[in-house]
Amino acid sequence: MKNGLEDVVAAETRLSDVDGESGHLIIRGVTLDRLVERATYEDAAALLLDGLLDRPVTAGDLKTRLGRMRSEIFAHVQAADETLLRLPPVDAMRALIARLPDGEDFATALRLLAAPAVFLPAVLRLQRGEAPVAPSPSLSQSADILAMLNASLPSREQVAALDAYLVTISDHGLNASTFASRVIASTRAGLTSSMLAAVSALKGPLHGGAPGPVLDMLDAIGAETNAGNWLAQALDRGERLMGFGHRIYRVRDPRADALKGALKPLVATGQVDHDRIRLAEAVERAALAILKERKPDRPLDVNVEFYTALLLDALNFPRESFTGVFAIGRTVGWIAHAREQALEGRLIRPRSVYVGPLPQAA
Ligand code: COA
Repeated sequence: MKNGLEDVVAAETRLSDVDGESGHLIIRGVTLDRLVERATYEDAAALLLDGLLDRPVTAGDLKTRLGRMRSEIFAHVQAADETLLRLPPVDAMRALIARLPDGEDFATALRLLAAPAVFLPAVLRLQRGEAPVAPSPSLSQSADILAMLNASLPSREQVAALDAYLVTISDHGLNASTFASRVIASTRAGLTSSMLAAVSALKGPLHGGAPGPVLDMLDAIGAETNAGNWLAQALDRGERLMGFGHRIYRVRDPRADALKGALKPLVATGQVDHDRIRLAEAVERAALAILKERKPDRPLDVNVEFYTALLLDALNFPRESFTGVFAIGRTVGWIAHAREQALEGRLIRPRSVYVGPLPQAA
């Protein structure tokens, strides 16, 4: 029995490869750095989904259809009841998705790609007492998410930064939420059911919940000169440094550098708080140094969540919404894996070892 199924191979996939030793991530034959440099959200979604649905998927067609679908989905926000919209953002998003029809086809996939992109900005606005902003079908998915969130057209650099984030996190091997999606797909329950299971897995703090605490840590440190002392005291208390370490990567998480690169144009054009970035870089340097000193036998480097926190903060997403933004990006990976499982896999049904009491002798 392998607790946590560590090192157990549970699927064959053509979707992504996570190489923890060399620090490489390949998404459908393309390395992450190359993909982030060239692809929009729609490009990456088409790359992951093409050949897995009942019609071909191209980026151009996806952009047009997603635009129209976002408008259709918006009607669900207007029809939703108040109690549901007041739930924590990810729970509200999940409840709204649960009302959508199930299915295995292109239309269902399209609906699920558009849904979190519309629901999250609307819920965030309603919760801060502002009216939701209707989608603009002619915009790209990233531009429209930012427009719906901030009620103003985003800059080119902001759209590029969100595209880079959504592409970077689009797929990542057989993580907990993707596995959940495949388990549900293996029963042929449908893509909506798969996505609901995946969102439920994602919201757990051991999976998609770390970037908020990264910002809390930066706030608590406050100034560059405090970094070393603050981090040492946190480790003395037995705490973990948020945004560092990874179950699979034994070197730097390649997604961290992709996101650090995506922040640069925002920094260069003055669209980010420079002090915040300088503080984050100082904290990163101090954390790497102290982790090396305290855990010499365990390579601990920066992970995706550290720069996710800075990037999403720079794009005005509130920290309680970070897991929801992650869900917007990862939905395409969940759908692609669910379809791959449904097309090629068998019902997932592992066995357990009974270690309970034996029936008493009569
Ligand atoms: N800060 C300080 N120490 C850390 C650490 C961190 N971020 N991550 C791991 N360690 C230490 C552990 O305390 C442990 O030390 P020990 O052997 O002296 O007890 C050792 O490294 C191995 O820890 P383990 O729990 O086996 O590592 P893991 O690979 O299973 O953990 C994470 C992976 C991501 C859960 C872990 O690194 C972590 O909690 N990171 C912080 C939260 C975070 O950023 N999560 C987002 C991940 S993308």
